[in-house]
Amino acid sequence: MKLLIQILSLCALASAAVDSGTPLTPPTPPPLTRPGYIYTRLNASEAMLLVVDLQVGLYSQVRDQTPEAYLNAMMAHSAIGPLFNLPTVLTTSASSGPNGPLPKEIVDMHPHAPLVSRQGEVNAWDNAEFRAAVEATGRKQIIIAGITTDVCTAFLALSLRQAGYEVWANTDASGTFSTRIADEANVRMRGAGVQTIGMFAIVLELMRDWRNTPGAAEVLPYFDKYLPSYGFLARSHAAAVLNGTLIPGEAGLA
Ligand SMILES: *[C@@H]1O[C@H](CO)[C@@H](O)[C@H](O)[C@H]1NC(C)=O
Ligand SMILES: *[C@@H]1O[C@H](CO)[C@@H](O)[C@H](O)[C@H]1NC(C)=O
Repeated sequence: MKLLIQILSLCALASAAVDSGTPLTPPTPPPLTRPGYIYTRLNASEAMLLVVDLQVGLYSQVRDQTPEAYLNAMMAHSAIGPLFNLPTVLTTSASSGPNGPLPKEIVDMHPHAPLVSRQGEVNAWDNAEFRAAVEATGRKQIIIAGITTDVCTAFLALSLRQAGYEVWANTDASGTFSTRIADEANVRMRGAGVQTIGMFAIVLELMRDWRNTPGAAEVLPYFDKYLPSYGFLARSHAAAVLNGTLIPGEAGLA
């Protein structure tokens, strides 16, 4: 809308310039950050985790990621709860039908988390038991992922925003039919103030400092399991420190 007004006023300016012969003045670019912007960070004492409809049947509909990468992302999302001791609520939609149950591994990660089995509500926020489970945690920052991104994640994220929650949507762990649908859903959520963000950033925003607890000691083994590129970086450093020898040509490299 803003852009449209800028374009329209630019057109008006251009026609005025043509009419009067005065040179065209370019419009002032918008500021890089909105005035009064506040960077709200995830805080492990204020956040909770939602696992929304990451069901074995719905998994087959995820086409914007490879099945292997997506399975890993689902497990990584679920494991953020135990890693930071976050209150967690699990939910499924019509789990006795084709959508299927949650994978057993996810349920086993959360022995004390409520699992709200919705019988028909598409948007989990329409279910009173689910709303009560979220409200009972007392947390105002919500990390969310679901299948599909455009329905299970986005509908709930928009309702949570309307209800006054801060929402971080894990873009690694939500899946849908195509990258186009995912892009549209993420734009729609961002328009409502949802922070769309991947697992690496969620975990490090929660951790804040490698010297914290949870910090390097807990987070590096987590990355080794779910983000092997980073885990193997640490493994290669460990191997070099424990038993490394420089080969010719290495010592002179900065
Ligand atoms: C996180 O939240 C708790 C509880 O609201 C607060 O005491 C603490 O200062 C916050 N931590 C940071 C690093 O902002
Ligand atoms: C340490 O490195 C040597 C080669 O420099 C290798 O023979 C040995 O197996 C390594 N030991 C371990 C524990 O990795």
